[in-house]
Amino acid sequence: MTEFTGNHILSVNQFDRDAIEKIFSVAHSMEPYARREKRTTVLSGAILGNLFFEPSTRTRVSFGTAFNLLGGEVRETTGMDNSALAKGESLFDTARVLSGYSDIIAMRHPAAGSVSEFAEGSRVPVINGGDGANEHPTQALLDLFTIKRELNYHGKGIDGLHIAMIGDLRYGRTVHSLSRLLCLYKDVRFTLISPKELAMPQPIVDAINDAGHRLTITEQLEGNMDADICYQTRIQEERFPSQEEANRYRGKFRLNQAIYTRHFQSKTVIMHPLPRDSRMEANELDNDLNINPNLAIFRQTDNGVLVRMALFALTLGVEDLVSKYERDVVWYSNKSS
Ligand code: NCD
Repeated sequence: MTEFTGNHILSVNQFDRDAIEKIFSVAHSMEPYARREKRTTVLSGAILGNLFFEPSTRTRVSFGTAFNLLGGEVRETTGMDNSALAKGESLFDTARVLSGYSDIIAMRHPAAGSVSEFAEGSRVPVINGGDGANEHPTQALLDLFTIKRELNYHGKGIDGLHIAMIGDLRYGRTVHSLSRLLCLYKDVRFTLISPKELAMPQPIVDAINDAGHRLTITEQLEGNMDADICYQTRIQEERFPSQEEANRYRGKFRLNQAIYTRHFQSKTVIMHPLPRDSRMEANELDNDLNINPNLAIFRQTDNGVLVRMALFALTLGVEDLVSKYERDVVWYSNKSS
């Protein structure tokens, strides 16, 4: 079983099924705190260094919120220009310095492998918040947590599920990490839908095949595909060599209620790591899906806080102390309704 306390979280490859179950059970136990039914001060005095060298809204804020909900404090750096990396400082030196100011660090950076490089210089645990097109382990965990909850509602489990992944599978790190996590499960069916140029990288296709899963690769949505999960993605324009190239693919995989009805079952769960590109020319997930009960995107973002709280508690070794430091919530709150 994976040892969490004091260790970095850099890649989904470090987890086995037992570790994932542990994370999910701790995440579940965080619900009363996230809903403000109770609060806890278990991490009172602890400091999170939240270092985001690439744009982020929900990942950055949910890391910070998760830490605050456990009673800890957050110090944040955003953007390369505002940090000493812009003066030529190495990731190792930055890590050495900032780990002296924090108990744990969450970090996002545009270069693949950078968060691991940073972790080598860090004296405290580092959590990967996304390293270029490589990995996004905490997103994959929250996606899998969401899949588990949504399918449970439909009386199914993760083993045997059919997932359709759509769009930019080449540069989208969330689908890379999620596919690798799903390799720990049994008899999963993958339908990968993307233009050839944006296909899933070969090492991940190999991992899916090695796990004995069924795999269909196609360039378009065809027929009714009997999928349990439709996982839509954004064209990762910031990772393309040029804007014109990114524009070529924008809008190729629009999803609205009519397209959904044509290609999916009425209970297919719709997921997206967000942000969804809502500009007219992209329209990845049309607003007309907002009233579709299977649209799970905002349940995903809420689950992200639970999963990140669980990862902080486990990494800092306080998962069994959270309720011991419990307090009442005294302010008005309607989060549990
Ligand atoms: C994703 C990311 O940054 O990889 N978003 C996220 O973390 N929720 C996906 C994206 O930006 O399209």
